[in-house]
Amino acid sequence: MVRRYADRAVDPAVVDRMLEHAIRAPSAGFSQGWAFLRLDTADDVARFWRATSPDPGSGNAWLDGMRTAPVVIVPLSNRGAYLDRYAEPDKGWTDRDEARWPVPYWHIDTGMAALLILQTAVDEGLGACFFGIPPDRMDAFRDAFEVPAAYTPIGAVTVGHRVSDTGAAGSAARRPRRGVDEVVHHGRWGGQD
Ligand SMILES: Cc1cc2nc3c(=O)[nH]c(=O)nc-3n(C[C@H](O)[C@H](O)[C@H](O)COP(=O)(O)O)c2cc1C
Repeated sequence: MVRRYADRAVDPAVVDRMLEHAIRAPSAGFSQGWAFLRLDTADDVARFWRATSPDPGSGNAWLDGMRTAPVVIVPLSNRGAYLDRYAEPDKGWTDRDEARWPVPYWHIDTGMAALLILQTAVDEGLGACFFGIPPDRMDAFRDAFEVPAAYTPIGAVTVGHRVSDTGAAGSAARRPRRGVDEVVHHGRWGGQD
């Protein structure tokens, strides 16, 4: 994750590629219940930060760095698209009961699409950062961009050219990466946590 960017535009064709890759993510029942808000003008990006920052007046190192990104992409999930898809004859969940879903795949699939955006940024030699929109800024975000109620932003992705100072350190600077042996349970759980 990169949290500060160079004062340099991102080629729109590269952003096109990020979004073309995003829609190749897998989705339950091929529901494709996702949408992407593409913000790539200074005005739109400024509107994003005005709407989503807790206190736009007071900067902090994280926000100061993140605001330098020339592009912000907001992936949004659409739960209703999944309930509709699974009410179709080949699935048959006509009650549209959310309890049928082991986990909310609308968010998960949109997250996989977001990962493809991040991976495309790396492939293109760019930097990017995925981050959450605070719950108490959600209404302001929706209002600012006229987002329909059916769509939920699962986070946002800044994109830009890397600089040597990559901005505020993330949690990865303070926590060790958990090893494969720690997280993989081969064959069975085997009594570990
Ligand atoms: C759901 C989610 C929310 C995140 N929220 C933030 C955030 O609000 N601010 C931030 O700087 N990074 C955020 N991150 C990025 C993580 O801090 C980062 O991926 C993690 O520390 C690993 O760092 P690395 O990707 O640089 O290896 C978020 C990542 C995820 C997946």
